[in-house]
Amino acid sequence: MLAIRVSLAERFAYARAMNVLGEQAATLPEVDPQRPSEARIYNFLLGGKHNFAADRQAAAAARGAMPDLPAIVRLNRQFLSEAVRLATEAGVDQFLDLGCGIPATGNTYEVARRLNPASRVVGVDLEPVAFVHGRRQLAGDPAADVLYADLLDAGEVLAARPVRDLIDLDRPLCLLLVAVAHFIPDTALLTEALGTYRSAVPAGSLLALTHACRKGPSPRVEQVRRLYNNATAPLIARDVAETTALFGDWNLAEPGVQSFGEWCSAPGRQCESDTAGKAFLVGVAVKP
Ligand SMILES: C[S@@+](CC[C@H](N)C(=O)[O-])C[C@H]1O[C@@H](n2cnc3c(N)ncnc32)[C@H](O)[C@@H]1O
Repeated sequence: MLAIRVSLAERFAYARAMNVLGEQAATLPEVDPQRPSEARIYNFLLGGKHNFAADRQAAAAARGAMPDLPAIVRLNRQFLSEAVRLATEAGVDQFLDLGCGIPATGNTYEVARRLNPASRVVGVDLEPVAFVHGRRQLAGDPAADVLYADLLDAGEVLAARPVRDLIDLDRPLCLLLVAVAHFIPDTALLTEALGTYRSAVPAGSLLALTHACRKGPSPRVEQVRRLYNNATAPLIARDVAETTALFGDWNLAEPGVQSFGEWCSAPGRQCESDTAGKAFLVGVAVKP
């Protein structure tokens, strides 16, 4: 296979961003710019700058197989914004964004701060590029940080420094998993981790999640799945029942787990969908 050119400017931008980490930079794994990652593909689809040529090629191939993909990504952003609004209106001002991704316009931090400047936000991601650029974006902000960790290590995430320092586990918080759970094929591990988060947070906390939807055999979804499986993470679509099960005994807000299109048309929602909103499932729930 031909090596994909990585420009000096791209390498330099990443190296410069790593400066904010100081000694911690040495503990991060090397990033292979030849191998696409779902975080960088998503960043490109969101119009972000922190991606390499291999990611852009993978995004173009995925878009070829599923032309709605950029619209799906944009609508996931709308969901994120609406979930943060619902949480803020419920009086929640702390956000733990699991699989926060690489900073791009409309991220959790931006939306939460716009709605309530006192919000505290901690992102968690296992993609070094997400961690490095997240840290760079938030440098100097005492109420927001990013943790480099696997969200499946829930106990470690909850005990880690930025979470302990910024999130008060005695007060309700909002857990977000936007476009993340479908990169975790092991349902048992995911369920166990979600159970740990659930036990750690008080009643009144929210869980907001989006998920690639499996509605039956679809050659397009299968093609995109294969493309992602060649990147750094496998993609697994789940159906409504499987996605609902991820919420366990949290109380799902009306209309339960639905396509984004259906969810958006529920009374009181301030979001708008289009046909691409049929392609993924969403839900927001409150801990009883
Ligand atoms: C498609 S992106 C979505 C990013 C972000 N939630 C958003 O809405 O913009 C998925 C993100 O989840 C991260 N991710 C996947 N599996 C993860 C895991 N087990 N722990 C932490 N992050 C994970 C990826 O690195 C990537 O940044």
